[in-house]
Amino acid sequence: MRIGIYPGSFDPVTNGHLDIVERASRLFDELRVAVGANPSKTTLFSVEERVNLLREVCAPFENVQVDRFDGLLVEYALSQNACAVVKGLRAISDFEYEFQQTQINRRLAADLDTVFVMTSTDYSYLSSSIVKEIVRYGGAIAGLVPDVVDRALRHKLKMGRD
Ligand code: PNS
Repeated sequence: MRIGIYPGSFDPVTNGHLDIVERASRLFDELRVAVGANPSKTTLFSVEERVNLLREVCAPFENVQVDRFDGLLVEYALSQNACAVVKGLRAISDFEYEFQQTQINRRLAADLDTVFVMTSTDYSYLSSSIVKEIVRYGGAIAGLVPDVVDRALRHKLKMGRD
């Protein structure tokens, strides 16, 4: 059984993340989407909210589970018997940060590899931060996030569309 871990903040999940989930779900027997619970990072949605949104939108993928993790990613990945960590790459600008993370993680767990999956060009400009900013200023995010996330964002940011 080949298990892959797709970690992230997912604050909130976007269609770009889902594109990676779909692609990575074809590469592994099981894919665990893992929400990092980092108390020092300020997020709009709580870990539970991020996990619940992900569970809803990942439901159509039979071999995808959603989980949270606390602490080091490599420790979580090893505890799950994962053979690889999956990261999405949108553009070269993502590479430097991901390169550093991969090297650190490799130092901590030499046998755990990181696999990079390139996002569809449709979403190469998309990020959770951009989506939050658009909603804060009352803009439309149709097509950028699943509908359930659109509603959750508007509710959270008190735009009151519901
Ligand atoms: O979506 P993000 O914000 O790029 O996700 C970052 C995440 C959660 C994957 C990263 O911060 C992470 O791996 N956090 C766990 C702590 C850890 O293992 N850090 C790397 C070694 S210092």
